[in-house]
Amino acid sequence: MCGIVGYIGKSQAAPIILDGLEKLEYRGYDSAGIAVYDGQQINMKKSVGRLKALVELTHGGAMMPGNLGIGHTRWATHGAPTDVNSHPHLNSKETIAVVHNGIIENYIKLRKKLENKGYLFVSETDTEVLAHLLDYYYKGNPLEAITKVMHRVEGSYALGVIFAEHPDRIFAVRKASPLIVGKSDEGCFIASDVPAILKYTRNVYFMENQEVACLKADELTFYSVDEEVIQKEPVTIEWDAKAAEKGGYEHYMLKEMYEQPKVLEETIRKCIIDDDIIIEELKMSEEDFRKISKIYIVACGSSYHAGVTGKYVIENIARVPVEVDLASEFRYRNPIIDENALVIVISQSGETADSLAAMADMHAKGVKVMGIVNVVGSSIARDADYIMYTWAGPEIAVATTKAYSAQLMALYLFAMKLGKAKSVLAQEEFRQMLEDMKLLPQQVEFLLSNQRKIQKFANRYIAAKSIFFIGRGIDYAISLEGSLKLKEISYIHSEAYAAGELKHGTISLIEDGTLVACVSTQEDLYQKTISNMVEVKARGAFVLAVTNEGNYEMQKEADYVIYIPKTNRYFTNTLAIIPLQLFGYYVAVGKGCDVDKPRNLAKSVTVE
Ligand code: AGP
Repeated sequence: MCGIVGYIGKSQAAPIILDGLEKLEYRGYDSAGIAVYDGQQINMKKSVGRLKALVELTHGGAMMPGNLGIGHTRWATHGAPTDVNSHPHLNSKETIAVVHNGIIENYIKLRKKLENKGYLFVSETDTEVLAHLLDYYYKGNPLEAITKVMHRVEGSYALGVIFAEHPDRIFAVRKASPLIVGKSDEGCFIASDVPAILKYTRNVYFMENQEVACLKADELTFYSVDEEVIQKEPVTIEWDAKAAEKGGYEHYMLKEMYEQPKVLEETIRKCIIDDDIIIEELKMSEEDFRKISKIYIVACGSSYHAGVTGKYVIENIARVPVEVDLASEFRYRNPIIDENALVIVISQSGETADSLAAMADMHAKGVKVMGIVNVVGSSIARDADYIMYTWAGPEIAVATTKAYSAQLMALYLFAMKLGKAKSVLAQEEFRQMLEDMKLLPQQVEFLLSNQRKIQKFANRYIAAKSIFFIGRGIDYAISLEGSLKLKEISYIHSEAYAAGELKHGTISLIEDGTLVACVSTQEDLYQKTISNMVEVKARGAFVLAVTNEGNYEMQKEADYVIYIPKTNRYFTNTLAIIPLQLFGYYVAVGKGCDVDKPRNLAKSVTVE
């Protein structure tokens, strides 16, 4: 997510803005910029990379005089991280500057219209369209220009806007992307999040969708999109600064778990348009899809687990054979790959050394590679032949949650598009799957509300020696992820097993009271999985079952049952993972582990 900070008041704006952007660094970004009005003109500085580069470039803001300005840290979505793509963006006359967090969905159409009217664009971003559109509508009244833009633009935005011809005010505009406004004796502030301005004021206004705020040095006015003045009440922020960075959550991991409904919603909003699946950045034609003879999914860790789910989903929906490999293995097994095969590399960071190396090997063999990546402009994203982004935003906690869920969604969408292109997925089934998919965000929201119940259950296992996760088919895939979530942050030994495999050795490890988490969401496998439960219970295990709402037979065998709402059989991993994430998190919290930064682990393993 991008970070926005703006200030107008008695003090010099630049140091306040840079300080605020520093407090938003946790949101993740790849470039930064600032624009300040110095009494004559708008001066702007931008730089790729860490905020430190911008601070040095501007001598901590000292070389940017003026008490009115806006600043931005950019998390690239449209256009790679470069100076010219960084925000703020200016109109050609450099009399309007804008910073933006969100996605302008109709920016291509608007850009074409503006270019036809003679506007010249310098960047690849969707945001630059806003600067020129504001110029187009501006006839002397900044509020009128802003509300006209709001009526024309589709998508999500939090904006900070300054006009050189109105140097006594800043405008803040919000639709879907969070934006707050603050007021103190020093002046008025806008920010994407509380930490940026907590040092200056605890007196904050949370903007609602389609609202505009006009900030003057000592005056705040709010308007509706129809320019009617609206009254808003301030909220006093009680958080301490550190807590504020996590939005009030104790850990980034918990915050990111709770962001999953929004991430799924964002994915659906971006990729399901008029009841069809549009993956704009993929640039893979119907013919390209039809030609795919076989798929190799290559990844590490949780991304590999998403790939295991992808195998079941793609093979069942699109009837295309799929092999899944750990990247570190794939590189050395000298795979036999025909020219119509597609290799899919899944990576949250886009920088994992093993995955990068596997992609390089494939390119050396002339094999096309598609990346499913969360970080725009990352190495895998740049080098892949095809790219499909996940829209999870920056993920700070080492243990992935929201990015993993976004990867599952990407694989469902890809499988459905492939199934349609191969004419093996009927239109009616396709439509029904889209309907099921649209329910996932609220179903995840519901499962997250079980937080307290799962915390209570988890506290019983903080002293456990070993915990096992078992499942069959797609439930085996989610068992892999549930087991990794637990062990990487609680340091408790855990293994995931195909349920039918337990009796071939590992069942010897089951002792009195050993917890076995059993995922069973595939109706045709219920009975098989129940017999596996009976096997482990006979050896003293305590069985936690995660199964579909309505499958009450599970209660006869399992000692503790968590139900997930009904969904399409191929989407159940998206729901089953929620209680398993919460379980792993609360066991780790109960043990007093450093949940966000577990020992020995890095967020991105850039070494082999
Ligand atoms: C997941 O919780 C781990 N942090 C780790 O397994 C991670 O999934 C793996 O290192 C792959 O990272 P990537 O998705 O950035 O390539």
